[in-house]
Amino acid sequence: MPGLKRKDILGLRDMTTDEIDLILNTAETLKDIATRSIKKVPTLRGKAYCTLFYENSTRTAKSFELAGKYLGADVINVSASSSSVKKGETLLDTARNLEAMGLDALVMRHPAGGAPHMLARHLSCSVINAGDGMHEHPTQGLLDMLTIRQQKGSLKGLKVAIVGDIMHSRVARSNIYGLTKYGAEVWLAGPATLLPTGFEEFGVKVTTRVEEALEGADVVNVLRLQLERMEKSLFPTVAEYHKFWGVTPARLKLAKANALLMHPGPMNRGVEISSHIADGNQSVILEQVTNGVAVRMAILYLLMGGGEAA
Ligand code: CP
Repeated sequence: MPGLKRKDILGLRDMTTDEIDLILNTAETLKDIATRSIKKVPTLRGKAYCTLFYENSTRTAKSFELAGKYLGADVINVSASSSSVKKGETLLDTARNLEAMGLDALVMRHPAGGAPHMLARHLSCSVINAGDGMHEHPTQGLLDMLTIRQQKGSLKGLKVAIVGDIMHSRVARSNIYGLTKYGAEVWLAGPATLLPTGFEEFGVKVTTRVEEALEGADVVNVLRLQLERMEKSLFPTVAEYHKFWGVTPARLKLAKANALLMHPGPMNRGVEISSHIADGNQSVILEQVTNGVAVRMAILYLLMGGGEAA
């Protein structure tokens, strides 16, 4: 199997379908390791990487850590809140010092869009974007695509409704860039104040009526309301947001009977999504999390010498 012919994974906007296919197919193969009783292979023995997180994370940070451990790599985890960043060290100095310890890859999350791109230009090791501000979250986009592909067989022609706080969502952007490359019909829905302009140029349909986006949808991907990124109030109240834009059992019925219900997490139950359907039989939210480990195993394998070894 050929490895990825790139040093870094920064986003899905500039990734080809051949590259995405390679990652998703590799993830399908490696998922078996992550779901069996003995979860350890020596594939990346002798390789070392670091997760460097300047924002909170449960799913991304922990699945990147487990993904490398399952493949036999050594991993260290640094969070800005407990590192020398607190003493005034810059992002670049922190990253250069970590690289000087002999890293093969750096997985980073940062509140500023473009931060991983800057590090990628300065470091010799691979840089993997684990979410940069409101820009991209490529591994989330890939795990979402893998989940849809596994459940529906293909992405082409599917109606995918992405609902909620589109404005602040790096998950939405990575999904848009990835899904449109495969011919999915992507709809964005949310309050006008949370809908950025410009996505129509990717062939995406945009509406402030959630019902229009959900009508006949094959996939409903609900996004978290990112109150922490809002400098001013962009809707009247959380209760009103749920009333007009929340995905409820009644609204989900507008989608196809076998539509998938997705959410990248963390969920605000009773705000953007009703608790009942989040735990219902259409929900693939925990399957997304399982696929997240497989996708991150695939990326670590392909970037840190897996292709070379094969
Ligand atoms: N989906 C996602 O990025 O979740 P975390 O913030 O917990 O990593």
